[in-house]
Amino acid sequence: MRKLILFLPFLLFIHCKKQPAPPTGLVTEKAMVVSARVEASRIGSEIMEKGGNAFDAMVATEMALAVAYPFAGNLGGGGFMVYRKQNGEIGGLDYREKAPLSAHKDMYLDSLGNVVPDMSTVGATAVGVPGTVAGVIEVHEKFGSLPLSDILTPVIELAKRGVIVTEKQEKRLENYKERFVKVNGDSTKFASNFKAGDTIKYPELAATLQKIMEQGRDGFYKGEVAQKLADFIQEKGGFITEEDLERYEAKWRQPVVFNYKDIKIISMSPPSSGGVTMNQIFKMMEPYKVSRYGHNSAKSIQLFTEASRRAYADRNYFLGDPDFVDIPLDVLLSDAYLTERMADFSFDKATLSSAVSHGEVEIVESSETTHYSIVDASGNAISATTTLNGGYGSKLYATELGFFLNNEMDDFSSKPGVPNMFGLIGAEANSIAAEKRMLSSMTPTIVEKDGELYMVVGTPGGSTIITAVAQTILNVYEFNFSMQDAVNAPRFHHQWLPDVITFEEEGFTEDLLTELKEKGYRIYAGRNRIIGKVDAVRVLSDGKLEGGADKRGDDTAVGF
Ligand code: GLY
Repeated sequence: MRKLILFLPFLLFIHCKKQPAPPTGLVTEKAMVVSARVEASRIGSEIMEKGGNAFDAMVATEMALAVAYPFAGNLGGGGFMVYRKQNGEIGGLDYREKAPLSAHKDMYLDSLGNVVPDMSTVGATAVGVPGTVAGVIEVHEKFGSLPLSDILTPVIELAKRGVIVTEKQEKRLENYKERFVKVNGDSTKFASNFKAGDTIKYPELAATLQKIMEQGRDGFYKGEVAQKLADFIQEKGGFITEEDLERYEAKWRQPVVFNYKDIKIISMSPPSSGGVTMNQIFKMMEPYKVSRYGHNSAKSIQLFTEASRRAYADRNYFLGDPDFVDIPLDVLLSDAYLTERMADFSFDKATLSSAVSHGEVEIVESSETTHYSIVDASGNAISATTTLNGGYGSKLYATELGFFLNNEMDDFSSKPGVPNMFGLIGAEANSIAAEKRMLSSMTPTIVEKDGELYMVVGTPGGSTIITAVAQTILNVYEFNFSMQDAVNAPRFHHQWLPDVITFEEEGFTEDLLTELKEKGYRIYAGRNRIIGKVDAVRVLSDGKLEGGADKRGDDTAVGF
């Protein structure tokens, strides 16, 4: 009896560790979509209710976001998708934009070799060859189970019927209005003063989607749409030709896969930096008893920050399009290398970024992307992140076709080693070349535990995507949060340079920030700063699904 009493705290500890947090988000029995807009989540979920699988739902959700969330959902952009089928088979799809055939390393430099302001960020010169339509058609051809017409009809109906403006969208449209007018003229659709509750209809987008429904990828990359698109971009001074569009191909890639303690993490490989950088962060943290430090405690923030500092230094220097540059992944992801990287880490004081190698490279990326997570009734899972780069991309709106065009060319290094007007500095590995894909931070991720599907997770947020996804996984796995609480929890970010930890406004006490400052950390506790908008799904122990739809946006989980 005495022995039992002595062991009781230990047994309780084991017991507590084994009980996953009860759900606080939407729980459904079979299937779920979590995305930035209720309209898109609903259309994706309804496709699965009609018997479609997660891949059919991906096509529907991605296209519905292009209608309902033009801020980042798109036909004129690109993205990445990681999947895990119910039988455990995994894969990744790269439908990232690429540089046009006429692109070259110095295309954004003037005759003196200086970066031309705005040229890679605003208007037609900033546009990369869009990949989204090729991506969804590739997914449908390989894994789809319903006819494309069944999947796209509700999306086309949504575009015709229109989408109700939310309060958050009203603010965004107002903020961007001047830039829309500057790029497109004052007769552009988005020169109007849209108010919350108004309905915006997209008949031109409906017609473009109809062409895709009838002709598949040729409906976008060849014929009338391709000709109109190339002519329009060139008239506005851009570089994309019909040949560029016809040559675009989505590419299947092997995801980055690694173990962290007893979970397996499956994430996107280059040309996204997401999987590699997150792999480095987790492996540098693995030797530590993270859960004992406590969620967002000084110690857990220090450890995460120091691992991120080192991983981002490598990201900026080594990563680029693997079809163009050799990336030493075997070294970068090896235990020996990562142990060595953390050899000078101490809880006593901050490492200086200037003391971490490759110190000339800084990243400042746009935070305007969107992510959705899907699980179907058979257990197939999709994690997809898609973007126009900036909010509404280059702001160039193809009026006749009904969509915004990306400014993804700015994700290249316009001039390796030298900052452009936004402070963006990149390395040679990410310099511009014809048909090359620009480096991304998008981190669509799937997590397994005990060989079973455990979580589907991802977020927008530019360079903060990687840290936001990693913190969400840690919140569930190390700190035993529900999916919804893990998504809502306050986040922080460090990316090597600038050498500063950025904190969201809520959730970090003055005492905590002071403690970190005393250890040598530079702090930015930004007003209204949002780090990511995570949309995720957790599989509960009884097989039900819990959604985590980020409270920071209009994000919504829908399922059955
Ligand atoms: N344009 C943001 C990213 O690809 O990471």
